[in-house]
Formats: sequence, structure tokens, C-alpha cells
Amino acid sequence: MNISRRNLLAMSGATAALIASAKLQAAEKAAAATGLKDAYKDDFLIGAALSVSIIKQQDPKLVALINKDFNSVTPENCQKWGEIRNEDGSWKWQDSDAIVDFAGKHKLHMVGHTLGWHSQIPESVFKNKDGSYISKDALVKKQQEHITTLVDRYKGKIHAWDVVNEAVGDDNKMRDSHWYKIMGDDFLVNAFNLAHETDPNAHLMYNDYNNERKDKRQATVEMIKRLQKRSVPIHGLGMQAHIGLGTNMQDFEDSILAYSALGLKVHLTELDIDVLPSVWNLPVAEISTRFEYKPERDPYIKGLPKEIDEQLAKAYESLFKILIKHKEKIERVTFWGVSDDASWLNGFPIPGRTNYPLLFDRKQEPKSAYFRLLDLKK
Ligand code: GLA
Repeated sequence: MNISRRNLLAMSGATAALIASAKLQAAEKAAAATGLKDAYKDDFLIGAALSVSIIKQQDPKLVALINKDFNSVTPENCQKWGEIRNEDGSWKWQDSDAIVDFAGKHKLHMVGHTLGWHSQIPESVFKNKDGSYISKDALVKKQQEHITTLVDRYKGKIHAWDVVNEAVGDDNKMRDSHWYKIMGDDFLVNAFNLAHETDPNAHLMYNDYNNERKDKRQATVEMIKRLQKRSVPIHGLGMQAHIGLGTNMQDFEDSILAYSALGLKVHLTELDIDVLPSVWNLPVAEISTRFEYKPERDPYIKGLPKEIDEQLAKAYESLFKILIKHKEKIERVTFWGVSDDASWLNGFPIPGRTNYPLLFDRKQEPKSAYFRLLDLKK
């Protein structure tokens, strides 16, 4: 066999590259062995939203990953009114109990989600058969039964509650929801009071999207001040942080300062970074919005290009630099899901796209962003 010197050089180059990449992988594995939650143990909790299917499957690899990298969990859907109750009002505890048991078994901090929201709740909660609204008294009673039953069942097991979700609208006025139309501010006041009376040790939060942005932040601060004037027991402010590659991260710093000035602990409650082309000019993340599928709106079906992977890593890095800087004001950073395959952003706001918003890829392997966040703590 006649192997030319050129071929030999090319081969040794390839071998060297292979060895280098194996070493890199080994180094990455060694770094990953400590996990994100350990790297950030002096800063804040690191959480993940868990779906019912994750809990049901009990896939050993995924369970190991959750335990290595996260120390807080939030149920993605199963505690929402429309999921945990039947149309006739009776309770469906199975899925919610399963996730609370999972958190208990693995000694994870657990967030309850969510006691009061305009979405994923049947119209019949608010309306009579003829379509007219039920009375305020009737809704007050329903809310009381809902919150006290749920909070009491998991007293001591759920450590923090998203008490009210998304009460400020996209116009930065109070959202014109059924809750608000019937009860006004008492919707929020009663929700926090009921949760606090039922479990005085639970950490109680208000949770919303886009509230890092200046206008919505101002509306939120005004609302919280109004609640605080009425002595409402509110302890934490959740910024969902469903953001994109173009998000101005400085907004987060301004918001952390503004919310903690109200005496609240700050949480990032649903963090993910959308990498796909944005289809809306409106600053809307209202969950009922949908746009039409077009191939040009779904450019990375075959995989995430290197440069976008790098942009994602940089975006996470710049956000976390701010979070670390203000760590004493921040209680928790929760990602909305564990790995890209299961992210809601594959279906929102356009169904059927291939998105890459999280730290773990479709094979549940860590992405560049994951290592960048570990590097920040070296
Ligand atoms: C909102 C809710 C979450 C979830 C996301 C989308 O942010 O708070 O429960 O529904 O939308 O998945």
C-alpha cells in the first residue's frame, strides 16, 4: 500500500482533531458532573417546568438530568384550573399529586402554578347557562373553594405559589379578564389573602410575561403598590422571561431593581429564548394567539446552525451576568421545560415549528449555552 506523505499528514491532522474533540467532550462531561444547580448554589435556585409526560415516563436519563441540574420544579400545566378540575367542578388530583410526590421524593423545591389566571379555565366558572356573568359573591365563593382546597392539599409540600398570573394586559392596563370584570382588584387581593391564610409559610408570587419591559413594568409596579396599600401578602415577583435573541437584557436589570425596591424577591419563572424568526410586531405573548405556518418561518428543521447556537449561548450569558450581579435580589431562575424537543415554543405562536430555546437539545444533551452558564461560575 502506498500512502503518500500528504495523506499521512492529513490523517494525523484528522486524528489530532478527533483526540482534541474527545478531550473537549471529556472536559465538558467533567464540568457537567457538578450540574447547574451546584454551580449556582450561592446565587439562586435553578428550576425547570415539568410536564405530566416527563413524570409519567420516569425516563432514568431525564430523571438523572433533572436531579443533577435543577433544584426546583414547576408543573407545566397540571395544576391549572382547566386541568385539575372537571367541567362539573370536581377535582382531578392524579397528575398534580404525581408531580408533588416526585418533587418530595427527590427533595426539590416546588412551585405551584397557578391559582388565578384568565386562561386554561372554563367559561362556565364565570358564566351562567344563558351567557350572563355570575354574581361577584358567587365568584368569590368559587375562588375561595378553589384556592383553599388546592393550597391546603399541598401545604408544606409546595413551597411557593404563582398566585395570580398575567393580570396586566398588553395595553398596560389591568387585563379585561372575566376575573377582573367581575371582581376588580379583589380578584388579586382575595387570591393572595386566601393562599396566605391557608399556608402562612408559602412564598406567594405575582407572575407575568413581558413585565421586564419599561411600560409593563411601570403598570405592574403601580398594581403591586395598590395591593400593598391593602396589606396584601405578596412576597415575590415573577418575570416569565419568554424572550428572544433580540431581547434587550438591560430591561431585566432595571426590573430587578424596580421590583426588589417594592420589597419583593425576584424570580425568573418561565425562561426560554426563542431563536426562530419573530412573526409579530406586537409585544404580545398572550397564549391564545396563533399565526400561519410558512416554511420560511421555520428555518432550522434540519438542525440549529452553529452561529445561532452561539447567539443563543451569548444571550443566555448576558442575561445570567445580570442575574449573578443581583443575586441577593433573586430567589430562583426556572426554565420553561428541560429540553428543546418538549418546549411549548415548537407549537407557539405557530404550530409545528422546530425551536431551540432551552439549554438541552432534542437528545437531552447540553448545548453551548449550558456550558457558557457553567463557565460563568468558574
Ligand atoms: C404562560 C403560563 C404558563 C404556560 C406558558 C406557555 O406563560 O404562565 O403556564 O402556559 O404561558 O406554555
